[in-house]
Amino acid sequence: MDGIKLDVGDRELVAERGVNLRAALLSGGCSPHNDGARLVNCRGLGTCGTCAVEIVGPVSPPTRLEEARLRFPPHQGGPGRLRLACQVEALGDLQITKRAGFWGQGAARVWGLEREERRGS
Ligand code: FES
Repeated sequence: MDGIKLDVGDRELVAERGVNLRAALLSGGCSPHNDGARLVNCRGLGTCGTCAVEIVGPVSPPTRLEEARLRFPPHQGGPGRLRLACQVEALGDLQITKRAGFWGQGAARVWGLEREERRGS
């Protein structure tokens, strides 16, 4: 297995390179969905926008669906600070942060590293 590390703040998950990030997080017991959205989400179709996370590290480019969803409120501006975990392939070691809010659009950290805590920052 070509393994990669997913740093979620309090631990590192090990996954296979190229894995879908949402699936890898869920299988590691780290939900990309905040309370409420854990039950009500699109299950990875790329339409609800609730799996939005901050990512540092190599991932696949945004899909057209992801581009569109991240321009739709409460998200705005398209992929930038946030990416949709369900649309992302993890291509190397990643540092991931989940923010508050139903869609993960808030400022407060739910899990993961703050910018100043990240490796290489
Ligand atoms: S799970 Fe709905 S957009 Fe990712």
